[in-house]
Amino acid sequence: MMSYDVEALRAREFPWTQQGEQIFLDNAKTGALPSRAVETLKSWAELRAAPHRLTPYQDLEVFQKTRELVAKLIGAKIGEIACMPNTTYGINVASLGLPLKSGDVVLTYDGEYPADVYPWMSLARKGVKLELIPKLDGLQDEARLLEEMKRPEVKAVTMSWVSFSTGFRADLETIGRACRERGIYFVVDAIQGVGAASLDVSKLHIDVLACGGQKWLLAPWGSGFVYVREALIPELEPMVVGWLAMRSSEEFTRMVDYDFVYYDDARRYQINTLPAPDFAGLNASLELFFELGPESVAEHIEGVVSEAVQWALANGDKVRLVTPADPAKRAGVLAIAPRDPVAASEALSAAKIFHSLREGAIRLSPHCFNTREEMGRALEVLGGERP
Ligand SMILES: Cc1ncc(COP(=O)(O)O)c(C=O)c1O
Repeated sequence: MMSYDVEALRAREFPWTQQGEQIFLDNAKTGALPSRAVETLKSWAELRAAPHRLTPYQDLEVFQKTRELVAKLIGAKIGEIACMPNTTYGINVASLGLPLKSGDVVLTYDGEYPADVYPWMSLARKGVKLELIPKLDGLQDEARLLEEMKRPEVKAVTMSWVSFSTGFRADLETIGRACRERGIYFVVDAIQGVGAASLDVSKLHIDVLACGGQKWLLAPWGSGFVYVREALIPELEPMVVGWLAMRSSEEFTRMVDYDFVYYDDARRYQINTLPAPDFAGLNASLELFFELGPESVAEHIEGVVSEAVQWALANGDKVRLVTPADPAKRAGVLAIAPRDPVAASEALSAAKIFHSLREGAIRLSPHCFNTREEMGRALEVLGGERP
């Protein structure tokens, strides 16, 4: 695997890492924008200040580029990708559009991120029931889920690819296959995974995958995408209908002919107007991933995370490793529970180490620009904080 020069990357794209003493290990909350995305946002603000400089379809070209780049990143066809302003919108494309009816059951894990719970809970109004699979030893219980999926009333399964709190990485292959065998829809929230780990949807049985750009894709707020499996598109009704979702919208000189024919691809789920500058920023960040190599980025993150996993295993008297130790079961989100999480969080903050406190654990989430030394510093503080 090709690796890249982290110091050069820091100097070029994340110059603030070389100014001040702060260590940023909180990309699972908000990813850092690379300089090229910052420059892109600035140039779009300047264009808007003098809009005569915009070319006629400059915004629409940005969305098309996003669809191309995202498709390349996750192994999808461009027709399977629609631009979305956040993860939630993509999840709602599934929850509102899937043909679920009274008596159907949707399964997810207890402890899922609320964006993956409330949209499905709201289906109670039409008699669809969301059931939560309890955790086992604090982690997502895949075996129990697979067992529950045998019930005939289960019609959809939804989950995060990587859990925001435990860092548990779902086995999308096994769950997807089980869904396909039983005719169950499989909906994935990938915001804590895409950008940190590699994904090839062409080899998985996922029906809908939603992802915001603001975390591991190092992209602006307001950018994101949804993947809808090609064969599902005719069946998945758009529940919010956009004017650019129609084929006729391509012809701006005949806008009021009102020809109600959706695009036959995922653009039928897209709503406009979307924030073009934010998507241009996402495109810039995606180009950075392709320059570094998405696999190399994933490998780099794994190197930094595994440093901490080994440390936590060796320091079991001080901390409890919440995230599974097995590299196949985790990605960039690492949760470590000290005996006193609040005191540990305060000690990290005092040392200017940016992290999150989630569900009683310290969450550390390094990205392509973080170093093992930075992670080491965080571990020193975590260890030293113990009585
Ligand atoms: C698993 C997960 N899903 C969704 C979100 C956010 O959703 P949205 O992009 O809709 O704000 C987060 C974090 O904020 C998250 O961790």
